[in-house]
Amino acid sequence: MEDARGRLRRLAEIDRRHLWHPFTPMDEWEGEDPPLIVERGEGAYLIDVEGRRYLDGVSSLWVNLHGHRREEIDRAVRDQLGRIAHSTQLGMAHPAPIELAERLVGIAPPGLTRVFYSDDGATAVEAALKMAFQYQLQREPPRPEKSRFLALSLGYHGDTLGAVSAGGIDLFHRVFHPLLFPVLRAETTYCYWCPRGAERPPCPVCSGEEIHSHILQNADQLAAVLIEPMVQGAAGMIVQPPQFLRRVREACAEGDVLLVADEVATGFGRTGKMFACEHAGVSPDILCLAKGITGGYLPLAATLTSERIFDAFRGAPERGRTFFHGHSYTGNPLGCAAALANLDIFEKDRTLERLQPKIARLWRELEALRGLPWVGEVRGLGFMAGVELIADQRAKMPFPPERRMGRRVALAARKRGLAIRPLGDVLVLMPPYCVSEEEIVWMVRAVGEAVEEVARGAADNVGN
Ligand SMILES: Cc1ncc(COP(=O)(O)O)c(C=O)c1O
Repeated sequence: MEDARGRLRRLAEIDRRHLWHPFTPMDEWEGEDPPLIVERGEGAYLIDVEGRRYLDGVSSLWVNLHGHRREEIDRAVRDQLGRIAHSTQLGMAHPAPIELAERLVGIAPPGLTRVFYSDDGATAVEAALKMAFQYQLQREPPRPEKSRFLALSLGYHGDTLGAVSAGGIDLFHRVFHPLLFPVLRAETTYCYWCPRGAERPPCPVCSGEEIHSHILQNADQLAAVLIEPMVQGAAGMIVQPPQFLRRVREACAEGDVLLVADEVATGFGRTGKMFACEHAGVSPDILCLAKGITGGYLPLAATLTSERIFDAFRGAPERGRTFFHGHSYTGNPLGCAAALANLDIFEKDRTLERLQPKIARLWRELEALRGLPWVGEVRGLGFMAGVELIADQRAKMPFPPERRMGRRVALAARKRGLAIRPLGDVLVLMPPYCVSEEEIVWMVRAVGEAVEEVARGAADNVGN
């Protein structure tokens, strides 16, 4: 009989032969020996095919909230399976998406009353962009000239072409440039590398003054502003002061421009509040949700909007005002059942309340990393933390990208039993909410040790 090691070898071999992993330089992946092949999950832990346990330090790419194999969500999905796995939302309905819509409207920022389902973060954004565009054509009176979008530099909204057009991460998006539609770009609030060279905030960028004027100057051609509120995750956990978001909201209101908040990463408690917009007391016109919506169980997304926008799509079919957009698995009942159970847990466990001391603990522990000579900045909000590695703190010199420092630190952390995935040289810590304070302490310590191990090794190599 095949033993665990033999099975790992066999699976790795098939993987190398047939799989193409997302966002993965495949030559580098093929060199991983052995690759991490996850077979099971248990609470905050991933368990590989040989039975090794890893703390899931990035919540399986920011989706898992209450842990793996959470009984209530398992049961909800099983129960739903006992009825039906899927039926279409085109021309018919289903109880789970109906009930979930009411629950989402109940927790969303005020004014968002309509729920349009799709499958992933990118598709939630894609629907939002098309909705905003078509709204401007069909509102009374129509404003067809308001057809453009404004987004932030270093923004990330997913990998479909509309979302990539709005995205601003050169490494990911540059190659597709000829396929994209042009988007107006506002400067992001990356204070560590302040675009204005300001020594300390607020400069006109992070105070929101610059984007405020930018929106108003272009309001006549803007359908919408699309931003990740409070934290730009994929950019490396870049945080905005709440004032920034408020100024964006004010400019959109003054300029009659829709505000689309992409809370795919920040939604469902990640920043310590149910939605990041709450930190600034702001309601967007369109809200994009995915990732944590099912507690990390199944792909499901929702684009929420207001009655005002929805009303622009009303009318007899022959008027052509319908939103012709959708997917085969839109509103999938299994995903919606998981999402309902996820929201039940938030209520039953008082998840947000119980998360607060853990957030405080995480940030207390992270203080220790600030003292390491290879850490330029530790930033984030709530249970979203980024640790930016730097070769020379004083000269503010990054590591050369070919050193792959972030990746090497992640591999060193894995040896210690911590699974993390960096964004370039920014280490990301986003554990599931079910981690204990002891596990938080251990996790941050493991990261510190991994940084030291790799950075000292790198320094030695330079010396050689
Ligand atoms: C803010 C934001 N929007 C959209 C997406 C895309 O989500 P998905 O990978 O589910 O398409 C992500 C993914 O990280 C994200 O962080």
